[in-house]
Amino acid sequence: MTFSALTPVFVAIICVLIGIIWNSSKKKVKEEPSRTSKKEESRPWVDEDLKDSTDLHIEEDDDGEWQGLDNNIEHIPFSPERYSEEDMIKRSKEFYELLNKRRSVRFISDEPVPREVIDNVIKTAGTSPSGAHTEPWTFVVVQDAEMKHKIREIIEEEEEINYKKRMGERWVTDLKRLRTNWIKEYLDTAPYLILIFKQVYGKLPDGKKKTHYYNEISVSIACGILLTALQNVGLVTVTSTPLNCGPRLRLLLGRPVNEKLLLLLPVGYPTKNATVPDLTRKPLDDIMVVI
Ligand SMILES: Cc1cc2nc3c(=O)[nH]c(=O)nc-3n(C[C@H](O)[C@H](O)[C@H](O)COP(=O)(O)O)c2cc1C
Repeated sequence: MTFSALTPVFVAIICVLIGIIWNSSKKKVKEEPSRTSKKEESRPWVDEDLKDSTDLHIEEDDDGEWQGLDNNIEHIPFSPERYSEEDMIKRSKEFYELLNKRRSVRFISDEPVPREVIDNVIKTAGTSPSGAHTEPWTFVVVQDAEMKHKIREIIEEEEEINYKKRMGERWVTDLKRLRTNWIKEYLDTAPYLILIFKQVYGKLPDGKKKTHYYNEISVSIACGILLTALQNVGLVTVTSTPLNCGPRLRLLLGRPVNEKLLLLLPVGYPTKNATVPDLTRKPLDDIMVVI
């Protein structure tokens, strides 16, 4: 009797509980995609080309065997040049002053630059350290006018979409002070375009593959050295990261699947009326912590 009198109460409680569980599970399903898309939206500078297919291509190209590195290598004496403390201070100051004059220049003239200089700055970049000395870089130097124009067409087409759709309002607004947009005349005018590819793994002549440890960090360091070498000879460039252009440019340049475009550097002299944004750099106290 008591039980049957309480039955409607139990039924009501169970219904309310089912309702709560149902509602909260529906909310979770609704929240999930918006959380993911928010994450994607908030990091649009992570180039899809760089995170997409590294693994995919490794799988695609999975027939080759992997080869370890030669561990039978001689160790030889090494005694680099040593300077007096006075000389060290002088050299460090002079080098800083040289590099402090480096600016990203987006107005590059078509005045020719000797090829030998380009060979030398790339040789210099090739002195970079790399994970387990794997040297995971390819520097593609484009001097052919027609090829430069094809590169410009691809980049401007993708960049217009980047600016209008992919980058988002905040990024586009943040770039306003630099006065950049998707029109990149320097891709035609610069005597050289250097496209730097990171090799996500190595391919040996016998088809075997080798692991390229820390390949992106290694290639980024090499690019820093390249920028320094360009500054040393009085040439200018702008460090550019053509977002979502990697696969099209890789195919256009006939590069293999283990290579991913990291940076594009147009190289030459600045035009006579070139301008740069009036930026300042952080003082030492803001960038150095001594413990
Ligand atoms: C990783 C990286 C990506 C960059 N991408 C671009 C780019 O796509 N287009 C561009 O015009 N400048 C690009 N820049 C250049 C920066 O805007 C520039 O370095 C910055 O404004 C500081 O100016 P400065 O190089 O003259 O010191 C890039 C710089 C870095 C380091």
